Amino acid sequence: LTEPIWIQHAAGRYPVEVAPGELGRLEAFVERVAPGRRPALLTDRTVARLVAQPLKVPVLVVPAGEGSKTRTRWAALTDRLLDLGYGRDTVLLALGGGVVGDLTGFVAATYLRGVPYVQVPTSLLAMVDASVGGKTGVNTNHGKNLVGAFHPPAGVLVDPAVIGTLRDRDVRTGLVEAIKHGLVADREYLGWIDRELDRLLDRHQESLTHLIRRSIEIKGEIVGSDERESGRRAVLNAGHTVGHALERDSDFRVSHGDAVALGLVVEAVAAGQLGLAPLDLPVDLVTRFRRIRVPLALPPADADDRLLAAMGHDKKTIGGTLHLALVGEPGGLATSGRWTTAVPESIVRQSLGIAREMLDE
Ligand SMILES: NC(=O)c1ccc[n+]([C@@H]2O[C@H](COP(=O)([O-])OP(=O)(O)OC[C@H]3O[C@@H](n4cnc5c(N)ncnc54)[C@H](O)[C@@H]3O)[C@@H](O)[C@H]2O)c1
Ligand SMILES: [Zn+2]
Repeated sequence: LTEPIWIQHAAGRYPVEVAPGELGRLEAFVERVAPGRRPALLTDRTVARLVAQPLKVPVLVVPAGEGSKTRTRWAALTDRLLDLGYGRDTVLLALGGGVVGDLTGFVAATYLRGVPYVQVPTSLLAMVDASVGGKTGVNTNHGKNLVGAFHPPAGVLVDPAVIGTLRDRDVRTGLVEAIKHGLVADREYLGWIDRELDRLLDRHQESLTHLIRRSIEIKGEIVGSDERESGRRAVLNAGHTVGHALERDSDFRVSHGDAVALGLVVEAVAAGQLGLAPLDLPVDLVTRFRRIRVPLALPPADADDRLLAAMGHDKKTIGGTLHLALVGEPGGLATSGRWTTAVPESIVRQSLGIAREMLDE
């Protein structure tokens, strides 16, 4: 049995257990991290169907997909729990991807002014990223994650065995985020991912288990030192300012992972333009992302005005200037002391053009 990974936060710490077969020990895990509580499990329809229900507890199901991360769902779930008589001794279990995790976390943060919850991530993205860090929330018509709360889970239980049923695009998204972790914090990890890529794409259990553990360690270390995103945590936004703009501009037809991969490429071009990164970094990234079959295509140049406007709406502007978490030397951003860089609009525009040409070749 492997040791849990401990994640620090302002009010304490919580364990993350990662091992194939963990799901079968969910009941015991919940009893350990939230003893004597009455559990309710929240999940989505797809996960309810595909992932075995290990607990004999009431299950509250929402439709699968981003559309469920709303205040309407939050209200319905809260009302349902009240109807069922759940009191202050409640523990919520979030079984699903990042959508279920963020939504359940937000219900937990607000239900009776806050009850504990346990993250049981079932998508690779939720395993390597979303289930750790304590950010919860829902979307509004004005954008994603605009209403929410910081509410760390009581514990996180990860069973890599459930990845077998994920769609390819969801595996890709998780891999892109893991590559981002290597890029911002650990060059050696990045090299390991490169060597292990075929096995990871084949969903080899042992490789996935190592990937998930190392990514959680990296994210945990970064958020543990900066829970509320005042500084260092911003490095996790690498690729995301441009990525979110691409995601939005495509009306979310481009998946989060595919958009972040493109974002990392464009931002690497920008870092090169500013003299902060080696000029071969973008090519290096393109090679890597092609290996994991990310469809790398930027929209035509007439989208650039819209993309820049969307970046301005992202939460990463300070006094009207874009601040991007630019990767300079791969693996070094998280310790560089320079978490974000002010980037003039003209450089972003130029970088989109350069990246577009590079990808069209
Ligand atoms: N809180 C954070 O720090 C944080 C970080 C990153 C992302 N997020 C959020 O996470 C969300 C995206 O997460 P996601 O990609 O997991 O989306 P998701 O929850 O929609 O899951 C993706 C799809 O995979 C399905 N699925 C999940 N597990 C499965 C399994 N084992 N087998 C088969 N299908 C399975 C789901 O039903 C869904 O259709 C976004 O809303 C994003 O904002 C939050
Ligand atoms: Zn992301």
